[in-house]
Amino acid sequence: MSAKKRTAILISGRGSNMQSLVNAARAADYPAEIVLVASNRPDAPGLAWAEANGVPTLAIDHTSHATREAFEDSLQEALDAVGAELVALAGFMRLMTPAFVERWRDRMINIHPSLLPSFKGLHTHEQALAAGVKITGCTVHLVRAEMDTGPIIAQAAVPVLSGDTPDTLSGRVLEAEHKLYPSALKLVASGRARCEGEKITISQDVMALSPLYVPSL
Ligand code: GRF
Repeated sequence: MSAKKRTAILISGRGSNMQSLVNAARAADYPAEIVLVASNRPDAPGLAWAEANGVPTLAIDHTSHATREAFEDSLQEALDAVGAELVALAGFMRLMTPAFVERWRDRMINIHPSLLPSFKGLHTHEQALAAGVKITGCTVHLVRAEMDTGPIIAQAAVPVLSGDTPDTLSGRVLEAEHKLYPSALKLVASGRARCEGEKITISQDVMALSPLYVPSL
């Protein structure tokens, strides 16, 4: 197998998606290796988990940097120091400058808890419930300068049930996120996902072709 892609994960909080990536990357045949978990919040619970699980960690406190650019310079230095080739955002709550995003063009991915382009930004599950959709889900995409945009790598569809609250819905979507993100990183790291003309093509695409009906037929 060709060399594993050196991947850094950026978090700001709980880090459950980060955990799913770290756990997946333990497999011998996984095409990415997690070389750093960094957080802009030193007290992020995910940092402690990563440390306890033997992954190199770093806190880069954005509040101790005068500007967004200064914070990103520190981040870039840390990414260079570990030789990162890919960056996976996992609940990373800082907007990045267009210059930083451009520097990592097609090498930085994000997970968002909706079927993009629907329900960008915060409070996605509230947005989905307010819109009354019967199917929501999650999306892994390449990062572009505008928030929650960028070529879509993979999506999972999740039913919305009558009586769902933002909490019950986010729990169901989060379970899907934990499966989708490792699989999407695998596609990128192995080179099977390619971006052409701002759309992703997956080589040797295989999928279940049955639609998801909500409610069931
Ligand atoms: C996830 O729902 C992710 O999609 C969104 O922020 C949340 C982070 O959760 N971007 P966690 O920190 O990975 O548990």
